Amino acid sequence: MARRVKPPRGRSTRSGTALPETSLVFNVVAKDERTPGVFRFVIQAPQIARKARPGQFVILRLNEHGERIPLTIAHHDEVRGTLTLFVQAVGKTSIEMSRLKSGQGILDIAGPLGRPTEIERFGTVVLVGGGFGIAALWPIARELTAAGNRTIALLGARSKNLLLLQEEIQAASSEVRVATNDGSAGTRGLVTDLLEQVIREESPVHRVIAIGPVVMMKAVCELTRASSIPTRVSLNPIMIDGTGMCGACRVMVDGKMRFACVDGPEFDGHLVDFPGLENRLRGYLPEERKSREQFTRVEECRLEEATPPRS
Ligand SMILES: Cc1cc2nc3c(=O)[nH]c(=O)nc-3n(C[C@H](O)[C@H](O)[C@H](O)COP(=O)(O)OP(=O)(O)OC[C@H]3O[C@@H](n4cnc5c(N)ncnc54)[C@H](O)[C@@H]3O)c2cc1C
Ligand code: FES
Repeated sequence: MARRVKPPRGRSTRSGTALPETSLVFNVVAKDERTPGVFRFVIQAPQIARKARPGQFVILRLNEHGERIPLTIAHHDEVRGTLTLFVQAVGKTSIEMSRLKSGQGILDIAGPLGRPTEIERFGTVVLVGGGFGIAALWPIARELTAAGNRTIALLGARSKNLLLLQEEIQAASSEVRVATNDGSAGTRGLVTDLLEQVIREESPVHRVIAIGPVVMMKAVCELTRASSIPTRVSLNPIMIDGTGMCGACRVMVDGKMRFACVDGPEFDGHLVDFPGLENRLRGYLPEERKSREQFTRVEECRLEEATPPRS
């Protein structure tokens, strides 16, 4: 169970209203490394687990000095009161999180956030996933298949050992096809090569949902635009508050400014300004690099201090 560790603090909104600050510790009940650098966390968070829907995410803060990072809810178990998250260790906070052990706690988790994925009986739905995006596709595949759709999951990775959740996606979908850059699993090539093939073979495809690196989602949209297949993408801009107030996650969709945390994270991919999103994601690279280097240096010093000198 979540444990209250300190009295709630207030935080001001633009209108000046004080919002209660979450001050709970969420326990890590299981953790393992699923593919190199990608960690699975099962976390006790019963209130979020009760409400979560496919496509939603949480924003967490590891400790009181930590920054807030958004992570997709890959699985939720209402009975056990747990959330499953997959974290790719890419920078300061995700590396720090990857070092947490079972039994340790996370200070704040806010969620479920964002609009859930639309689950309806569409017909044939192709789900395209790359990187941690595959984890986000898992609950979506399960619910779309249960709703009576023919779901074809296309999974892409650089190599076989980097493929996440292949068995789980297999169990959740009508069909799975895999592409790896080096040909170590499935077809050699890109996941978009598989999509081209499926569009040729499976006409009509009623909907495509793509989640993964921006470059992949952009390429998927270029392909499906040509065949006028409705396409949803889950965007991953930098987020801070997750409540639509800070503006950090703004993206242009159909020429209008949208906030991915409250209006998304899923949008009509044919209307998204991908170059704008790529620019905003690149905007903080020097600061992110510096923060990662500082964190690594501090960790190395701690390790040196903890290691007794050789006699
Ligand atoms: C709605 C949403 C859901 C997400 N779900 C997941 C998830 O389930 N698992 C997961 O591992 N990551 C997920 N991300 C991305 C994750 O939030 C970032 O990787 C994380 O914030 C990086 O923080 P950091 O301090 O470790 O790295 P930073 O130092 O902030 O960044 C390190 C590197 O990661 C890149 N990066 C930073 N923020 C993002 C971002 N939002 N998206 C993509 N790359 C980014 C930077 O460009 C940089 O190259 C999600 C992002 C969003 C917006
Ligand atoms: S994260 Fe602040 S407005 Fe979306």
